[in-house]
Amino acid sequence: MIEHARFAAESLALTIAASRPVSRPNRPMKVALRAVDGLVRAASRQSIPPTSLLYEGPPFAAHYLFNGWEYEKYLKRFGMKPDSAVLDVGCGVGRKAWAIIRSLSRDGSYHGFDIVPEAVDWCKSQWRESGDRISFKHLDVHNQHYHTKGARTAEQIRFPYNDSSFDLVLSSSVYTHMLPSAVTTYLRESRRVARDGAHLVTSFFVLDETSSSNISRGRSVYTFAHEHGGCRVEHPDCPEHVVAYDREQLEKLLAEEGLSIVTHLPGRWSGRRDGYAYQDLYVLTPTAGAGRRP
Ligand SMILES: C[S@@+](CC[C@H](N)C(=O)[O-])C[C@H]1O[C@@H](n2cnc3c(N)ncnc32)[C@H](O)[C@@H]1O
Repeated sequence: MIEHARFAAESLALTIAASRPVSRPNRPMKVALRAVDGLVRAASRQSIPPTSLLYEGPPFAAHYLFNGWEYEKYLKRFGMKPDSAVLDVGCGVGRKAWAIIRSLSRDGSYHGFDIVPEAVDWCKSQWRESGDRISFKHLDVHNQHYHTKGARTAEQIRFPYNDSSFDLVLSSSVYTHMLPSAVTTYLRESRRVARDGAHLVTSFFVLDETSSSNISRGRSVYTFAHEHGGCRVEHPDCPEHVVAYDREQLEKLLAEEGLSIVTHLPGRWSGRRDGYAYQDLYVLTPTAGAGRRP
């Protein structure tokens, strides 16, 4: 029942978001959406960022909550325990942070970083940071879609954490906005800060036989019609807006970076009804015996 409600709400939100460039919601629709949003905010015990900060997906309070609940369930399935040390790469405005933090005990820890200063500031305003248990950091990194003023490139980044610090490294909807050399750097850094036996929960848009066939049949939200230096993009004028990877090339890269695939769960974005999450999920673990790269 809850699964059906979630699927219906997500489909509606995505349909509205995807149709925005074509037909903006008319006035009565806007009023109705605002009223529902107000009700959700009033009923929620969880504080939700203002609509102007909900830049990460459909800009609705309900989506912020559904998305956190959904990932809490996934992360528990993929090994998150109350005492886990969790890193949230590209944490945004905390869509996952609130659900992760509430499921950790005092022995667990949550650390998140992002490149959008306003998002990190909002998170800092919501959760009291305590050095080794909860922190949010801003990294001044350039991204053509999210932070055009960033001073450094993603390839220049070393995550600001020690080697082998985390049991779980989450990168949700981050590699879907990064080009190949940046993804390589972030996977390497994720492996460096992950403990032996840790899980890396990552999401991608993956092009394989099924998703490509769905795209050609017009079932997919995206078409990824443009080749762009080792990946495919939706908007050639802003490649980092949405990025997809060929499955074979991606899995080769994962192996080269010393990461083994624990499970690969295709997502619903391309119109797959049996998809697990919206994006494709790869759960990874450092390959035993493969050297940690500097
Ligand atoms: C679609 S949002 C997802 C946010 C969050 N992970 C979630 O699932 O709600 C993509 C996020 O990735 C962040 N991002 C993009 N490039 C990044 C980079 N090089 N390092 C860290 N974060 C990055 C963006 O600023 C943005 O907050």
